[in-house]
Amino acid sequence: TILVLDFGSQTSHLILRRLRALGVFAELLPCTTKVTDLSWKPKGIVFSGGPSSVYDEGSPHVDPAVFELDVPILGICYGCQEIAWRIDSTSVARGEAREYGHADVNIVKVNSHVDRLFAGLGDGISAFMSHFDKLISLPTDFVVVAATKNSEYAGIAHEKKPIFGVQFHPELEHTPRGSELLRNFSVDICGAQPNWKMGDFVQLEIARIRDLVGDRALVLGAVSGGVDSTVGATLMRQAIGDRFKAILIDNGCMRFNECEEVKETLGKHLGIDLTVVDAGELFLRLLAGVSDPEKKRKIIGSIFVDLFEKEAIRIEEEAKNTPNSGKVEWFLQGTLYPDVIESLSFRGPSATIKTHHNVGGLPERMMKGQGLRLIEPLRLLFKDEVRAIGRQLGIHESLVNRHPFPGPGIAIRILGDVTKERVEIARKADFIFITMIKEAGLYDQISQAYAGLDTSRSVGVFGDQRVWGYIVILRAVRTKDFMSAEVFDFDNSFLMNVSRAICNQVEGVSRVVYDLTSKPPGTIELE
Ligand code: XMP
Repeated sequence: TILVLDFGSQTSHLILRRLRALGVFAELLPCTTKVTDLSWKPKGIVFSGGPSSVYDEGSPHVDPAVFELDVPILGICYGCQEIAWRIDSTSVARGEAREYGHADVNIVKVNSHVDRLFAGLGDGISAFMSHFDKLISLPTDFVVVAATKNSEYAGIAHEKKPIFGVQFHPELEHTPRGSELLRNFSVDICGAQPNWKMGDFVQLEIARIRDLVGDRALVLGAVSGGVDSTVGATLMRQAIGDRFKAILIDNGCMRFNECEEVKETLGKHLGIDLTVVDAGELFLRLLAGVSDPEKKRKIIGSIFVDLFEKEAIRIEEEAKNTPNSGKVEWFLQGTLYPDVIESLSFRGPSATIKTHHNVGGLPERMMKGQGLRLIEPLRLLFKDEVRAIGRQLGIHESLVNRHPFPGPGIAIRILGDVTKERVEIARKADFIFITMIKEAGLYDQISQAYAGLDTSRSVGVFGDQRVWGYIVILRAVRTKDFMSAEVFDFDNSFLMNVSRAICNQVEGVSRVVYDLTSKPPGTIELE
């Protein structure tokens, strides 16, 4: 395993992705991690980039013991400056201007020891730079292995030890040969085996689940029909059979026909007997008059907990006197690596943008109240890796490629308070939008699309009638990791057709708008 220490860059996770794509397993931890406390020894360590300045008070720094581990180190951007600053605090300073964008990196050949980082890359590569601070001198015992017009020290290497630093970002696609550099570092310099395969993941994870759960305990899991929970449920089912109990709570804010379809698909294709708990009326009653997004999430989260607790008791009762009698001891969560990364930040949880209830509050209370333990088979995976596993497990393409749908459902796609009428309008509009997207063959090109509702009203005219209707907001984005996203570029004529269809078919709508905001700043959901 390669350990990536995160200094807070937006692209730290991409270092992991590149390494894993090379078959090299990597883990991301906060830069302040005490490496001597780890239960495993990394083959090599990467310091990521970060938004701070190494010389500022309060900036994040690595545990000095990192340098004593005697494993290769690669610093990227801030990580490179961290290496230099540790040795000589005058070697890093603010540049005259921010260097942002493409740069031609000239590779400087020195000797066979230090040249290993750029082996096979010829005399130069094109790279992506994004920095204000830069190295202004070489720390003792280091040599230059790469330079650009603006950065004399774009790549540095220790003369004797396997310590390297680059000012540019090899993890970005804008550095086309960056993966080769990361391969040189991880495989050739660190000696990591490029043998991380999804196939192995499934077998290893099933074995791990069996080991953890033992042969009596029951596992309760919330299934939504989304790819994460479906893959998680399928793994559980393969690992422990009927002792896995899948529940779908209908919170009254699901998409059109969703509960019925999910139940049918899971039963037919995956042999999972899904229990649908109809709690629509209850959710809508408790959500009445609540417009604050975080309050909505908290209410939804806490009703979920109550209902799961009830279900756990019911399931135990039902299982009594059957071959699967046992206690519900585990709760399955479809946590993915980006969620883990967010909660690992060395800045702590203060930067929470939204309480994703499938990550935050929900399990915490359940764990306490019910003494349940959390099982998270996907916690080391990114979305596209989950999809790859889903395919490998034989899950149908239409489920694997399904756009994500948030736990709180349509409730966080309605700006303002949620009523049955508003959910119904948003649901119908969403169904029309998604159906038209599918008919146009665009569904798989879009990462997530939906129709939400602005509950302020606008005036419209239908025939001779003045109407005062809601505003439907269409949103469609493309993203690799859901941490940033760009707006999907529809033809205007397609959008006009959608608008016409919604206004004609959904009573109570007077206007349809398309959201043109990328993420950041606009999150994918409206709330
Ligand atoms: P945002 O809106 O934060 O969404 O850009 C990123 C991804 O997370 C999903 N999302 C949620 N999923 N519970 C969930 O299960 C939530 O509370 C929640 N909020 C956002 C969102 O659909 C998108 O895929």
